[in-house]
Amino acid sequence: MQLTEKYGTWALVAGASEGIGAAYATYLASSGFNLVLVARRKEPLEELAKALTSKFKIQAKCISCDLANTGAALQLQEATKDMEVGLLVYNAALSHIGAFEKDTLEHNNKIAQANMVTPMNLVHLFAEPMLNRGNGAIILMASLAGFQGSGFLATYAATKAFNRIFAESLWYEWKDRGVDVIACCAGATATPNFINTKPEKADFFAPRVQSPDEVVKECFEKLGKQPSFITGTGNKLASFIMQKLMPRKTAINIMGDTTRKMYRL
Ligand SMILES: NC(=O)c1ccc[n+]([C@@H]2O[C@H](COP(=O)([O-])OP(=O)(O)OC[C@H]3O[C@@H](n4cnc5c(N)ncnc54)[C@H](OP(=O)(O)O)[C@@H]3O)[C@@H](O)[C@H]2O)c1
Repeated sequence: MQLTEKYGTWALVAGASEGIGAAYATYLASSGFNLVLVARRKEPLEELAKALTSKFKIQAKCISCDLANTGAALQLQEATKDMEVGLLVYNAALSHIGAFEKDTLEHNNKIAQANMVTPMNLVHLFAEPMLNRGNGAIILMASLAGFQGSGFLATYAATKAFNRIFAESLWYEWKDRGVDVIACCAGATATPNFINTKPEKADFFAPRVQSPDEVVKECFEKLGKQPSFITGTGNKLASFIMQKLMPRKTAINIMGDTTRKMYRL
C-alpha cells in the first residue's frame, strides 16, 4: 500500500531544512505527500520547498519556528489547523559536545526542551486527530548515543534515550489503533551538522558513516513493523556487541573514549 493511502496526504517534518530532515522531506514528497516544513531558518526551508514542489508537484508550507521555545508545539498546531497531518517526523535536535559542566544551564534546558518536551507536546497534539481517524504515523529520531551513558554528550544522549523509550511505549499503546510509531536510532550520519563538528575517525567501534538518504529509506522500510530500529548493518553490529556481549560499564567507557578521541577532548 502507498504511504499516502495509509497515512493521508500531509506530512510535517520538524527540522526539515538539511541533512536527515531534508532527506525525510524529499522521500515524503517523492511519495506524494504535501509537506509542512519546519526549522528556524526560513531561507533553506523555502529553497527546499521550491525544489520539491516543482519536482514532485506537491504543496508545501514553510514555518519558521524555534523548537526550543516552550510555545513551539502550539504554534505548529495553530499554523496547521486547516490541514490533516497524517505523518509527523521529529528530526530536529540540539546538542553539546564536551564536558557537561562547560555548557550553560540555559543551553541544557534548551536541549531538553527541543529534544524531549517539544516532541512530546507535538505528539500529544498531532496524535489525537490521528487516533480519532484511526490512521497516522509518527517518526522520532533517536541515536546510538542514547543506548548507554555517553560521556561528553550527557544531556543530548539522555534526551535520545527518552525519544526511543517514548516512541516504543506509544508503539505499544497505539499498535492496534492504526497509528504507527517508530524510533529511528541512527549512528554517525553525514549531515551538515555532523560534518561541521569536524569529527576525527574513531577506530575500533566505528561503523561506516551513513548518508541521510540511507537512514530515511530504512526508516520507511521499518515503519509499521517495529517500535524502533538501528540504522545500518555496521551500527547494528556495533550495538549488538556493546549491548549484548559487553558489561554496561565497558560499553560506557568505549562510548566516552570514542567521543573524547573523535573530538580531541
Ligand atoms: N547526524 C548524525 O550523525 C546523527 C547521529 C545519530 C542521531 N542523529 C539524530 O538525527 C537527527 C538529525 O540530526 P542532525 O543534527 O544531523 O540534523 P539534520 O538532519 O542535518 O538537521 C537538523 C534540522 O533541524 C533544524 N533545527 C535544529 N534545531 C532546531 C530548533 N531549535 N528549532 C527548529 N529547527 C531546528 C535545522 O534547521 P535550522 O538550523 O534552520 O533550525 C535542520 O533543519 C537528530 O534528531 C539527531 O539526534 C543524528
